[in-house]
Amino acid sequence: MERLEVTETFAGIALPGHLHTAESLQFATKFPFRDTDVVIVTYPKSGTTWMQEILTLLYSGGDAQPAKTIPNWERAPWLEQIHFRSSLRDTATHRLITSHLPARVLGPWLQGSKAKVIYVARNPKDVVVSYYHFHRLAKFLPDPVSFDAFLQQFLEGKVHYGSWFEHVKGWLGQRQLLDIIYITYEELHKDLRGTAQRLSAFLGITLEPQTLLALEQHCSFAAMRDNAMANYTLIPPEIMDHSQGRFMRKGVVGDWRSHFSPPQNALFDRVYHEEMHDTELSAHWAMV
Ligand code: A3P
Repeated sequence: MERLEVTETFAGIALPGHLHTAESLQFATKFPFRDTDVVIVTYPKSGTTWMQEILTLLYSGGDAQPAKTIPNWERAPWLEQIHFRSSLRDTATHRLITSHLPARVLGPWLQGSKAKVIYVARNPKDVVVSYYHFHRLAKFLPDPVSFDAFLQQFLEGKVHYGSWFEHVKGWLGQRQLLDIIYITYEELHKDLRGTAQRLSAFLGITLEPQTLLALEQHCSFAAMRDNAMANYTLIPPEIMDHSQGRFMRKGVVGDWRSHFSPPQNALFDRVYHEEMHDTELSAHWAMV
């Protein structure tokens, strides 16, 4: 498959060449956002697909048809990827756009528009576990070798898409500069209903009770695991080796506890504390 082995480096970050080119990345940083655009921004494995599904249901007024018939990468395409221009639904009143780019790359450009930004973050201990498993099935990402080796690279910010710490802190720093809301994976887990209400208020959507009901049903882990338009089973095995695991893997909070050894946990806590001690998001997840 084309460019599966290629790594594209952009703004000091390694990205899969299968999905990105220098041209697609340049385009992303100069994309003419509209004030009506809604941009989901995440570090990988933080709940991107979940948020794409939630927004699909919010904007369809609870009609599950779009979510069941259109792949998520067409409903909310990735700004920086090569398929972006052909996938973007240009006539939609609110174009849904997804990005994994860091704030230092995308933030200044987004500041020139009134587009609404939804930043989703997740406990980095669960992110690293989910990301490790994803590397095992995604053929466009490097072989993670072992969990221990991968954890080390993650803490050093040397994995694809760059440093989790830089990503989260960078986007938190956009609070005063963008029309942005911060949502955590853990909040979605704990209170999907309440978080959907908070999101609707941010987006200016009147949320009818039946929309909320449909959203809760359709955006559950079980429903999304079985939805081919959201679970990535449409991707051929040369690109995602489904025999190595599922994209919709476990969908739980705290799975890191069954992966981290005590020394790994101590190392992680040390780096986390150094990097994150003065940020407010930490209150949303349990690090012990
Ligand atoms: P796990 O690997 O821990 O199961 P992203 O979409 O950003 O790549 O994130 C993928 C992670 O979100 C995976 O985590 C996946 O299972 C989880 N996820 C996706 N939809 C979910 C849902 N409806 N409920 C809970 N977790 C979900």
